[in-house]
Amino acid sequence: MKVTRRQFSYGFLGTGVTLGLAACSSNSTPGPIGTTTFSPKPVATTGRVRKFALEARPTQVDLGGRVVDTWAYGDSIPGTLLRATAGDRVQVAFKNSLPMPTSVHWHGLAIQNSMDGVPGVTTPETPAGGTFDFDFVIPDAGTHWFHPHHPLQLDRGLYAPFIVDDPHEPGAYDIEWILVLDDWTDGVGMSPDQILAGLQAKGGSSGMGGMNMGGMNMGGMGADGGDVTYPLYLINGRAPSDPQTLAAKPGQRVRMRIINSSADTIFTVALAGHDLQITHTDGYPVSPVSAASLRIGMGERYDAIVTLKDGVFPFVAEPLGKLGIARALVRTGGGAVPAASFTPSELTGDPLTVTSLTAGTGTALPAREPDTVQDLALGGTMSPYEWTINGTTYDNTAPLTIRAGQAGRLRITNATMMSHPIHLHGHTFQIGAAGGTGPRKDTVLVPPMGAVNVDLVADNPGKWMVHCHNAYHAEAGMMTRLDYTT
Ligand code: C2O
Ligand code: CU
Repeated sequence: MKVTRRQFSYGFLGTGVTLGLAACSSNSTPGPIGTTTFSPKPVATTGRVRKFALEARPTQVDLGGRVVDTWAYGDSIPGTLLRATAGDRVQVAFKNSLPMPTSVHWHGLAIQNSMDGVPGVTTPETPAGGTFDFDFVIPDAGTHWFHPHHPLQLDRGLYAPFIVDDPHEPGAYDIEWILVLDDWTDGVGMSPDQILAGLQAKGGSSGMGGMNMGGMNMGGMGADGGDVTYPLYLINGRAPSDPQTLAAKPGQRVRMRIINSSADTIFTVALAGHDLQITHTDGYPVSPVSAASLRIGMGERYDAIVTLKDGVFPFVAEPLGKLGIARALVRTGGGAVPAASFTPSELTGDPLTVTSLTAGTGTALPAREPDTVQDLALGGTMSPYEWTINGTTYDNTAPLTIRAGQAGRLRITNATMMSHPIHLHGHTFQIGAAGGTGPRKDTVLVPPMGAVNVDLVADNPGKWMVHCHNAYHAEAGMMTRLDYTT
């Protein structure tokens, strides 16, 4: 596959003011947006405009033999795939047909602040029946996704991939396969709101089923089993009994784009009979490395290349500390489909984690001592059900601050017994230190009682969320912001 180089020009496109407020359509009321407006960072543009329509609505989906009522982007889960090339200007005409307000956050796209989709911070909430016109230029290629910045809505069917192609990428593969992993309860078990209510009711002594209270400090299940036990785990919206099948030929090279859109589940993934060659995480190249299996936290993305063998091969996602699996199939030849409970031997060893990855050529940030070093201390209690950053829930947070042009370091420490996937909006950071060997990412799984330093460059002015991508932790307070000051 040959890709021609396109001419890029540098320039500012619009301002936060015109795109943030003037562009919203008639029946959406601007929310309590701050008085500060921020100029977007300069982005190399292709000059092309891509227009999309997107609707969040109540719908029915077939999870593979089981039809449930849920909320989705369109009529499928994952929802409508959006796709563009780095440097494109994207216009999304969004309509909210849900019975309550919603928002759309473009996870992984370091776009201008006014389009970031965080109600009350960056972008007006879209009321029930309302519309909002998004308009932004995409700076970086990669496997990204989008979801509401209303955490409990994310645990319904409101998620979809956003793939941004790189005009300079050689593309040494024959087929692409997007794999979206999810933990599923809506319409099968409790609703996300009932789950949260159960977690908040005295650490679960209400006797409601489905809760795993071992997550934090109550003993029981493995610490990383999350706070919620799900009745189903899905890949591309399908239960393991009726998996999606990729039909291919032996010898073909597949680029898998793996997205964990779960609310409360870390997965270990493997393709039976194959090693995964990991090439990217969170959209950025890593030095390619082979692994039998891979660990992926909520909000993270990994791209992997595989050369297919001859036969039928399950791709299995095993939820960490929980029962059940999610799966999809590759079929390149004859053979019976293994039982729905089959787990490949590749899942028995230690999975590859972010600590074994190194930044791909040209993806490290320039080496630089940080101008500002700030702490992000993760904590929490099950009773009351509260998750905190620097000792407080989001309503009392003292945002971290940075000035445009500064180099910043976040020292993330985790004083809890479970992993938290920490996500920063509007930027990517380098794990470890700028100029070092760690990969570039926007979401990092911070291990129990562990610590991770990340470095970033303040090149995208605004007010940016920093939070745990566990939907229940985010809802219960584990969020803060990184605010630009002048
Ligand atoms: Cu994907 Cu603030 O999140
Ligand atoms: Cu968390």
